Amino acid sequence: MSKVTVVGAGAVGATVADNIARKELVKDLVLLDIKEGLSEGKSLDMTQTASLLGFDTTVTGSTNDYSKTANSDVVVITSGIPRKPGMTREELIGINAGIVKGVTENILKYSPNAIFIIISNPMDTMTYLALKTAGVAKNKIIGMGGILDSARFKCYLSAAIGCSPNDLQATVIGGHGDTTMVPLTRLATYNGTPVSNLLDADTLNKVAADTMVGGATLTGMLGTSAWYAPGAAGATLVESIIRDEKKLFPCCVYLDGEYGQKDICLGVPVVVGKNGWEKIIDFHLNAEEMDKFNKAADAVRNMNNVLATL
Ligand code: LAC
Repeated sequence: MSKVTVVGAGAVGATVADNIARKELVKDLVLLDIKEGLSEGKSLDMTQTASLLGFDTTVTGSTNDYSKTANSDVVVITSGIPRKPGMTREELIGINAGIVKGVTENILKYSPNAIFIIISNPMDTMTYLALKTAGVAKNKIIGMGGILDSARFKCYLSAAIGCSPNDLQATVIGGHGDTTMVPLTRLATYNGTPVSNLLDADTLNKVAADTMVGGATLTGMLGTSAWYAPGAAGATLVESIIRDEKKLFPCCVYLDGEYGQKDICLGVPVVVGKNGWEKIIDFHLNAEEMDKFNKAADAVRNMNNVLATL
């Protein structure tokens, strides 16, 4: 695999691209945006870091010329408007649905075999829309939310425990929304020992609550969506595909009976490699976790139903 395109040269898209270049995941990296000059400028700026950071990836900008994206192995879609303070991810649907649909169609003309990573919000619904628009194998459409939410979960857990986030295993499934995320606190461990051995129930509940509004907290501070962690999370997903790492991440994928849900894209633990998401892992949720997951599915399905009205 040798080529990745990132669509949308805003803060998230540019940070995904920056991380891909730093890790030298591919030879060719294309950054595409509709705003004249933006992707060219950010690509040139990144290119000028090559001798400082020691990478050989070629970063090319494109103002809406999809022919430059031809034969991409992986395409990351970040296009659309970001949240403003006080807005939910769901409020973006009207504008972002049209953008994500158009981008998906344009990409497919030049890269019919690409694996798609969707970051645009509301991410679960945009992933479902991309899948229905593309009509490609379900394994090739992956929504990026759970990796980011799990990184935030580990961040808050590590602060509460006073440990390295790298010694934590912690997963957020369900939706990528303030009320639809399901942090799996019961299954979180500190190098194998349940975090409940280290933290009391009130602290664990606060960590889970902070995780669920992790993006909103940052939007309140920044005046727009966050980008460092979303960008790093997007690149981490690209890396597992490009290097065929078969890593286990929570990702938003099409469910056909798994976790008791059908005809919906929702966050579950999946193995990610060169074929996209390759299998779903059953975490054996208890009744309470299953109930939260099902409520998340109801909310995301309501949002998916809005697509038909646009
Ligand atoms: C966030 C956006 C990217 O959670 O959804 O920061």
